[in-house]
Amino acid sequence: MRRVAVAGGLAGVCMLVLSGCSDDQNTLAPHSSAARSITTLWWVMFIGSTIVVMVVTLLVVLAVLKRRGRLDRVESRGESPGARNVVLISGALVPAVVLTALFIYVLTTVPATAEPKPKDAKMEIDVTGKQWFWAVRYPAQRIKTANEIHIPVGVPVRIRAHTDDVIHSFWVPELNRKIDMIPGYDNSVLLEADRAGVYRGQCAEFCGLQHANMAFYVVAQPRAAFNRWVAREQRPADTTAAGAKVFTQVGCGGCHTISGLSNGTIGPDLTHVGGRMTLAAGTIPNAKGWLGGWILDPQHIKPGNKMPALPVSGSQLQQLLSYLESLK
Ligand code: CUA
Repeated sequence: MRRVAVAGGLAGVCMLVLSGCSDDQNTLAPHSSAARSITTLWWVMFIGSTIVVMVVTLLVVLAVLKRRGRLDRVESRGESPGARNVVLISGALVPAVVLTALFIYVLTTVPATAEPKPKDAKMEIDVTGKQWFWAVRYPAQRIKTANEIHIPVGVPVRIRAHTDDVIHSFWVPELNRKIDMIPGYDNSVLLEADRAGVYRGQCAEFCGLQHANMAFYVVAQPRAAFNRWVAREQRPADTTAAGAKVFTQVGCGGCHTISGLSNGTIGPDLTHVGGRMTLAAGTIPNAKGWLGGWILDPQHIKPGNKMPALPVSGSQLQQLLSYLESLK
């Protein structure tokens, strides 16, 4: 019994420690009705299985203790009808009832996270997984961006997920379940945040060397702030700065789009890169020093990614940095 208590205590401590691991990506801190259904299901399953494990463990311990105490006094009494009933009830009937009840409960949760129809949503966003970043497109607003998805609070948004290469998985734990991005197949999920905030998302399917560094952020904003963001993203980029010339000369445009300047599609769209929170799909902060380090040696920061180190002089680098940072 003491061992059981110790194991239970340890499990409790682990839970507490793990729940403190993450502030911004926590499956147990839901911020949408779909995510709440998933969290409730998780707790029901967790508490249900904990009770089952405790009861079974208790019965095993009791049986062992009882048998030890009696062995020297009692010869085997053979199989009694009472013993058979205990086995039938606790070994077949009770598990059947418990598992059926849990299964029915799971079935009632499924519709809450089911694939949305176009009419279920007020807005659609296309997200394409690529090794290793997320290309984001708002068809109605004519916006292209990357690794950061802005949505209005309280508005059901349908994410249509595709992949350009291998299987990825789109997952924002606080907003809904994960959906796989499978070559040749479109999947969709509904995001409807119930309060403003920044929700971290992560690729949830191993997709190569930098799978772990394939993150993104969903920024849920009040309507007015969201509209301001849309208006800013719709503005064309400045293509006259000195840095814009360097961008073209050095060859950045072969892989990246800056609206009006280049239309590469291998790397993330940079039209408004200066306004984003992170670089390289959540790998590094979007700050001048990090951006400079990234341009000079991207393979050091994110080995295996498709960006080569381009030969830029000191002054070219400064012009590039000022330019990219100005693209808000
Ligand atoms: Cu993309 Cu893992």
